Amino acid sequence: METSIVDVVIGMQYGDEGKGKIANQMAASGEYDYVVRFNGGGNAGHTIYLNGEKIVTHLVPCGVLHGVPSVIGNGCVINTQKLFEELEYLEGLGFDTSILKIAENAHIITRDHIDEDSKDTTIGTTRTGNGPCYKDKVGRTGIRAKDVPELQPYLVNMHSLIHSSPKKFLAEGAQGYWLDIDFGDYPYVTSSNTGVGAVLNNGFNYQQIWNVVGVIKCYSTYVGAKDYQQVHDDRFEKLREIGQEYGATTGRPRQIDWLNLDEVITACQMNGVTKLIVNKMDVLAQVENAWDWYKDGKLHFVDDEASFVNNIRKEIGNVLPGTLVQFQGQLH
Ligand code: IMP
Ligand code: MG
Repeated sequence: METSIVDVVIGMQYGDEGKGKIANQMAASGEYDYVVRFNGGGNAGHTIYLNGEKIVTHLVPCGVLHGVPSVIGNGCVINTQKLFEELEYLEGLGFDTSILKIAENAHIITRDHIDEDSKDTTIGTTRTGNGPCYKDKVGRTGIRAKDVPELQPYLVNMHSLIHSSPKKFLAEGAQGYWLDIDFGDYPYVTSSNTGVGAVLNNGFNYQQIWNVVGVIKCYSTYVGAKDYQQVHDDRFEKLREIGQEYGATTGRPRQIDWLNLDEVITACQMNGVTKLIVNKMDVLAQVENAWDWYKDGKLHFVDDEASFVNNIRKEIGNVLPGTLVQFQGQLH
């Protein structure tokens, strides 16, 4: 290996696809020298089950749970107080957090950012100060990690980290492709780019991108202010309860709809997905007559799980030959 390489995990829907679980499986493999978060901040909520224990992280990359050195990249925004609280929580669970590094040029969320975000009524944000912080970053009035005395021991320069010697990185995405500031349903989006392009803007070059793992659930969820769920259906209520579809950061009930293959295929094309993981098959299996999906804007359905799997594989294969499609349950 003459250069560093990076495998990427990104959501192909609206967040909450189970990226945390997948990134966690990959980080546990021992293959990676570093795990990097490349976008977003405490608005993310990654739920991970480790040895039967539920762990929710918001900002700290999952590498810390596996002794893999981890970096909060420059594409992220950091609430310093929340970061230290999360580090304390993880230390309390027995994890060594001294392996965490922070990009010197990552931006800092201030009290004013949180106050401004808390007034939001139109987007349905997580009220974590995310959008206002990125606004100041782009407006060139922001504060960066290197300006904060408490963060000095953690600072790292992304160029030296990535390019001084060859290493294998795992880039852990936050939110999902359809919340992307450019390609999502603006203004019902988050304030960062959530796709593979955002990885490059953390210091990787395009030749270093290796596998791109797209993650979806076998049904759709969205949390925010717009009406996403197209109809009322008792089966959606069941999915919400069985799948525990409540926001990991805000506790809000997620809106639910059938799997939208049109959205998933577009997201896979835009991100060059080499492997697509379809999560929560065990949840959908517990609801009667729920093997439904949208394709070309129309609802399709089959009677059983095997036909669902075959149909999804075929539809994805038609447009993205060579993309591996793998089906998983909620936990495995
Ligand atoms: P913000 O990122 O807090 O500004 O919120 C913008 C939109 O993205 C809202 O609809 C949020 O519910 C949604 N959002 C932000 N982060 C996540 C996430 O990690 N999972 C799911 N939705 C999210
Ligand atoms: Mg989440």
